Amino acid sequence: MLQHNFDESLDRRHTQCKKWDTYGEDVIPMWIADTDFRCPEPIVKAVKKRAEHEIYGYPCIDKSYEKAVCHWQKCRFGWNVEPDWVEYTPAVVPAIVYAMRAFTNPGDAILVQMPAYHPFHQVIPHNGRYIASNRLIENNDGSWSVDWDDLEKKLSMPRTTMFLLCNPHNPTGRCFTREELGKINDLCIKHHVFVVSDEIHSDIVYKGFRHIPFGSISQSAADNSIVCINPSKTFNIAGFRTGAVIIPNRNNHDRFYSELENLKAFGRNIFGTLAVQTAYTECEYYADQLMVYLQKNLEYTHAFLEENIPQIKLGQVQATYLLWLDCRSLHMPHNELMDFFLKKAKVALNDGYTFGPGGDGFMRFNIACPKSQLEEALKRMADAVQNLIKEGMLNA
Ligand SMILES: Cc1ncc(COP(=O)(O)O)c(C=O)c1O
Repeated sequence: MLQHNFDESLDRRHTQCKKWDTYGEDVIPMWIADTDFRCPEPIVKAVKKRAEHEIYGYPCIDKSYEKAVCHWQKCRFGWNVEPDWVEYTPAVVPAIVYAMRAFTNPGDAILVQMPAYHPFHQVIPHNGRYIASNRLIENNDGSWSVDWDDLEKKLSMPRTTMFLLCNPHNPTGRCFTREELGKINDLCIKHHVFVVSDEIHSDIVYKGFRHIPFGSISQSAADNSIVCINPSKTFNIAGFRTGAVIIPNRNNHDRFYSELENLKAFGRNIFGTLAVQTAYTECEYYADQLMVYLQKNLEYTHAFLEENIPQIKLGQVQATYLLWLDCRSLHMPHNELMDFFLKKAKVALNDGYTFGPGGDGFMRFNIACPKSQLEEALKRMADAVQNLIKEGMLNA
């Protein structure tokens, strides 16, 4: 079996890389959700071989891409997906927009569990829909629960026609259980609300937890949902702009497809489709080894924070490599918090405030990098907090 070296550090600067080329050279970027790991060898080989052909014209569309998606869903999550249920999309966010246009009307409300991945806050209003906000409840031990009463209240509003579920949830790292998904499905059926499940982080689930595709939980869920996926997070191939949706119900499929037709959103990227096919059929080893590595990075971060920066709290992380750091004990408004990490610690994080209700005082921290980089970033953060204490700006 191939072994991947996740300790390897690659220089990504000056490659038009959003993560590394946005901030100064002296800043360690621990923000946007891509990894700093080299892409799996089989993908690199396949793309290089295709590039050597030196003709990159329109591709013909056979079922290889769809079959690769089915293969992954079956072997990783035990879900039997038919190739006819799968549609190519350039990425997950555009797929969400197509789904909103296919299954809702302008003026409708889309339910989102807050805090939420920041582009959700943009694409919903930009498409003339409203956000119905359902806050996740923060428990004393730092874990997150669904506020079921509020959820039902928001789902029962006549204008709510869609639930944009994020499972696993970015940024809280919740991996919803089968029981929770079943309850969500029951409520959505009861109130005639369609479910779009963003499962882009489904491969990144820690020990003791399990990802369950929403469409796999029951026939009624399959008939009342679509599932959006993209191997980009797992295999570090976001730059190819290649995702997929899984739509088990024929009528739903036709509605979604006619939206793709209206927008002429069919064109496929030859390198992206090849990368996805290779990822899903030849790179299971990489996904497994990635999780072993991330588990260690997660445990290291937990221990480091507890010992060296108790002012920054981290609850239980069930999934994703994006850690939702509770920085409220630093007592800074969000813009100062962002500046503190960027200018004093020289580490770039995502500002929790941009994730909407419940995000103020939190920062999102990406641990998908070589351990040496993680150690340096955490050390810089600890030193910056110590300096605050020395300067009398914070109590020890
Ligand atoms: C929950 C979630 N959905 C969607 C995306 C973006 O996916 P894509 O690049 O496929 O649009 C991200 C990226 O971080 C994400 O975290």
